[in-house]
Amino acid sequence: MTKAIAHPNIALVKYWGKQDKPGNLPATPSLSITLDGLVTETVLADAATDRFVINGQQQQDAKVADFLTTLRQSHAVPPLEIVTINNFPTGAGLASSASGFAALMTAINTHCQLGLNSDLISEWARQGSASAARSVYGGFVNLAPPLWRASPAASTNHWPLNVVIAITSEEKKAVGSTEGMRRTPATSPFYDAWEQGAAEDYTTASNAIARRDFSALAGVAELSCLKMHSIMLTSTPTLSYWNPSTVACMDEVRRMRAAGIATFFTIDAGPQVKAVCLPDSVAQVRSALSEVPGVLATHVCALGGAARVLD
Ligand code: DP6
Repeated sequence: MTKAIAHPNIALVKYWGKQDKPGNLPATPSLSITLDGLVTETVLADAATDRFVINGQQQQDAKVADFLTTLRQSHAVPPLEIVTINNFPTGAGLASSASGFAALMTAINTHCQLGLNSDLISEWARQGSASAARSVYGGFVNLAPPLWRASPAASTNHWPLNVVIAITSEEKKAVGSTEGMRRTPATSPFYDAWEQGAAEDYTTASNAIARRDFSALAGVAELSCLKMHSIMLTSTPTLSYWNPSTVACMDEVRRMRAAGIATFFTIDAGPQVKAVCLPDSVAQVRSALSEVPGVLATHVCALGGAARVLD
């Protein structure tokens, strides 16, 4: 039996769209922070046939099944019982697939004695879900060309940011990222502009992190998020992940920043709002977002560590 944990990550420069070749390669570079507090725990055991249980419910998960099929073309992986627990809502825009595949691949590497280093664990995790490549590492993490393996950009100590997560719905999203990323490049009239602007956003954000320039990071992270949601919204059929409370939280974050409070928002393929803050701003940001109509709960995270096997 092998147990591994991984944390979700949130991208400050987003990935949305894939290269037209095998390997689940992103079309655009991304940059994320790994979050503590939210955890996926995965326990593996040998079994007669593959079995996948998530939060106590047995599932037929096509992404997990396809991932195991691909992995077995290169490595000896026996049939496995995979038991996963998330301490946060699954499939609701909180990056459960990122922590899920990072924990799964970390556990498989040890359980099946594959002997892979973090680079290769990250490369395999990417094949399950590209954002999972980033959850193999802690702190600030890149996923960029030419290799499209994640790599650490800066440690948690370099700049100990916090994130206040405002939960506005616990429902599973109607359209997952993989389907959304088929739809957007094929239909959004703005997709080419998104691809062309991504490298510059990535460089701007990398420099802002290196200099610990909060206002520069705020500007580029909100822009990357809003550009991604613009191409989602202009897909056919539209990909609309926000609800009224999501929009109200964005307005509240803008109001706070205009009043001098160090915070900015980012939102993934779901209705939750993540307000990145300097430690001094956390209490005010949490209290303000808790008051926004429709906010069901708030969670505060610091930057988290790498995926790892537990004894
Ligand atoms: C909006 O990594 O979930 O969170 O590779 O198809 O599994 P697949 O997609 P996934 O997409 C994440 C999209 C995002 C932005 C990001 O994390 O960069």
